[in-house]
Parts: sequence; C-alpha cells; structure tokens
Amino acid sequence: MKIILGVGGGIAAYKAAELARLLMQENHEVQAVMTAAAQEFVRPLTFAALTGRKVLTDLFAIESAIEHISVAQEHELLAIAPATADLIAKMALGLADDFLTTLYLAFTGTVVIAPAMNVNMWEHPATQANLQTLRLRGHRIVEPESGYLACGMTGPGRLADPETIAEAIRRESQKRRDFEGETVLVTAGPTQEPLDPVRYISNRSSGKMGYALAEAAAARGARVILISGPVHLAPPRGVELVPVRTAVEMREKVFEHLGPASIVVKAAAVADFHLSKVPDHKVKKTAARISLELDPTPDILAELGRKKGDRVLIGFAAETQNLAQEARRKLDSKNCDMVVGNLVGASESGFESDLNEVILVMRTGETVALPRALKREIADRIFDQVLKLRLALHAAHGR
Ligand code: PMT
Repeated sequence: MKIILGVGGGIAAYKAAELARLLMQENHEVQAVMTAAAQEFVRPLTFAALTGRKVLTDLFAIESAIEHISVAQEHELLAIAPATADLIAKMALGLADDFLTTLYLAFTGTVVIAPAMNVNMWEHPATQANLQTLRLRGHRIVEPESGYLACGMTGPGRLADPETIAEAIRRESQKRRDFEGETVLVTAGPTQEPLDPVRYISNRSSGKMGYALAEAAAARGARVILISGPVHLAPPRGVELVPVRTAVEMREKVFEHLGPASIVVKAAAVADFHLSKVPDHKVKKTAARISLELDPTPDILAELGRKKGDRVLIGFAAETQNLAQEARRKLDSKNCDMVVGNLVGASESGFESDLNEVILVMRTGETVALPRALKREIADRIFDQVLKLRLALHAAHGR
C-alpha cells in the first residue's frame, strides 16, 4: 500500500521512526510528512533514511505548488503519529496552514490517527470534542496508552505502541471497498409538512443516522445518493445530495433516483400526516381554537417494498415500546429485507444523539442486537449485515 506517515510535533515523534520501519518491513511504500514542530524533535533525515524518500516538510519549498494535492491523490492511507492536540484541532476544524494539514484536507482515503499528549490536554473537552468530530468523519483513532508521560504525569496520553498502530493500519487497509460498483440510496432527516407559508409540522430527526450510513457506504466504495430532509449537517464527502422538504418531494426523488440503486436504506423520519391543501397565506389568529384535518402522506417504504425487485431494502423503525415485534411487523408488511429498530425516547441514543443502540430484524428470521455505539459504527455494522443477508438469501434461493 502507499501510505503517508504524518509526524506531529511531540516527544513521541521518535516512536514514529519505529512505525516507519515496521511499515517498510511490511513492504508498504511510505511517504513521511513532518510538521515544523516534529522537526524540532526528530530530524527529517531519520525518516528519509528509513523510507528511502525525501521527507515532505514545507508547503512553500517544494518542486510543484500543488504537491500536497498530488501526494494526497497518489496515496491510499494517511497515518498521523503522533497526533498532537494542536494537529487534531486543526484537522477537526479544517485549518490548513502547513503541508500536513493541507494534505489532510485534500486526502480522500483512509485516515488513522494516533494521538499523544499530556493527560490534561488529552482529557480537555476541546480535545475530546475534536476527536469525536474526527471519529464521526470515519477516521480510526488509535487510543493512547495510559502510563508515565514525558511531562512527569501519569495517565492516558502516551502514544500507542508502534506495533499497535501498525496493526490498526493493517486492519484499516484490509477493509475491503466491498460496495465498489454498487449504488446505495439513503434517505435521511425529517420531513417538514407546511401548514401555511410560515408554519410546518416536523420531528426530532437530526439526519445523523442517515448521514452516517451515507458516509459509511461511500467509504466502502459505493456511489451514494443521499435524499435528505432539512438538517444542519454537511453532506459526507463524495456523496450526491438531493435535498427535499416534504414527504411528497421525498417520494418523488426516491423513485427518480431508484433506477441504479442496489441497496435502499430508509433512515428518514418521514411525516405520516400532512395538510394536503396548504393555504397560500399565513393563517391569522382569529379564532381561539382551530382544528387541523391531516391526510396520510405517501408511504414511501411500502411502495418501495412493492417495486424493489432484487434490491436490498432496509427500513427503520423508531418505536417507544415493543421494538422487536414492531420491527418484524414492518419488515413483513412493507416487504423489507431488514428493519433497523431503534428504541426512541431513551437518552443517549435514537433521535439527535451521535450514538444509537439498535436491533436488526432480518428477512431470514434472524435478529441481531447492536450495542450502543457511534452512529458511524452502527452504519458499518448494518452494511456488514447486508453482505451476510445477501449471501443467506442467495443460498436460500439457490442462486
Ligand atoms: O436522524 P437522527 O437524529 O440521527 O435519528 C435517527 C432516527 C431515529 C430518525 C432513525 O434512526 C430512524 O429510526 N428513522 C425512521 C424513523 C421513522 O420514521 O420511523 P417510522 O416507524 O415512523 O417509519 C418506518 C419506516 O417507514 C422508516 O424507514 C421510514 O423512513 C419509512 N416511512 C415512514 C412514513 C412514510 N410516509 N414513508 C416512509 O417511507
């Protein structure tokens, strides 16, 4: 593999030399990039000697003004070790003021980050929030070890052992682009159903689950079409975003883009009712009480179930009780291949949270429980199950 080893400025920079040696020993091509601070601890010559390549250090002292772009495009994995609190913050914010941070922004492959810093810096809410941002971006964080630190304190913050980082790189590099060549259609977020030009009915969906699914599918090589209700999230890189507002618009866009999709994931929280004739003008506060007569919205999942053909159809079920029974009922009544059931109403999972805890009810009769984890991790586990489910269904149909 072609790996970029980004070295940050910490006392642990010397351990990155051992990591470079391990990666070279495994026959990877390693391109070292050092920040200015890293060079205060270890000289570039060390990495040049270990990797057999000139070390990249300076955005402005290079042959080509766009070298960071070409280096980003030519490599498959970016490992940053040690990642300092400063480097982590810059990556989280997208600041690009040197070769390594500029390269990071231009890089579209797998990112592995091995932090190292003083225990208080590690535990600071700013650092933890920045790490969470990077995790949600799908980057692999190799947790630092706990022990005696160079600053004289004891606690978490010591760079993971180079062998542990190499193992994490090995595992990430082995993750297949197992959805290459497929098109995955994901719906996400809430819908907004207008009551008049200024008011609407909606729900608590933030879009986080659907966006995590879109990001996971794209990372695994799929073309991803993300049909999203109104949310405050940036679309994941490489994903084709189709913004919609209402359930009717979502239905229209789903069927417009269904053609090439081999997998459809309906994570959106679609409103079940709407006002079918929306007044042209703002409703005036003339009466003490008004009644709304709402009509059902189109049931997109049920229609997909009728028209899905060979596609894998995954529905979601947000329930406050009887999760397994409700998920199974939806699976059968809407002809889904899998229903992801999440108990909503509980704290720290379901709507709005970065975390979720779900059960996967499968057409094969199997039910898999996924313990609470980041929605991004849950998304990967759902796609892992799609592969297993496909194999089981093909075997059952003798195909
Ligand atoms: O967005 P987050 O804040 O991350 O929260 C995630 C989530 C809780 C919204 C998500 O994980 C989830 O559970 N989404 C489905 C919520 C929902 O609308 O559940 P439901 O039981 O009402 O609908 C069942 C299924 O039918 C869903 O796949 C839904 O997309 C679909 N549906 C519902 C109504 C409708 N008119 N058309 C549909 O296609």
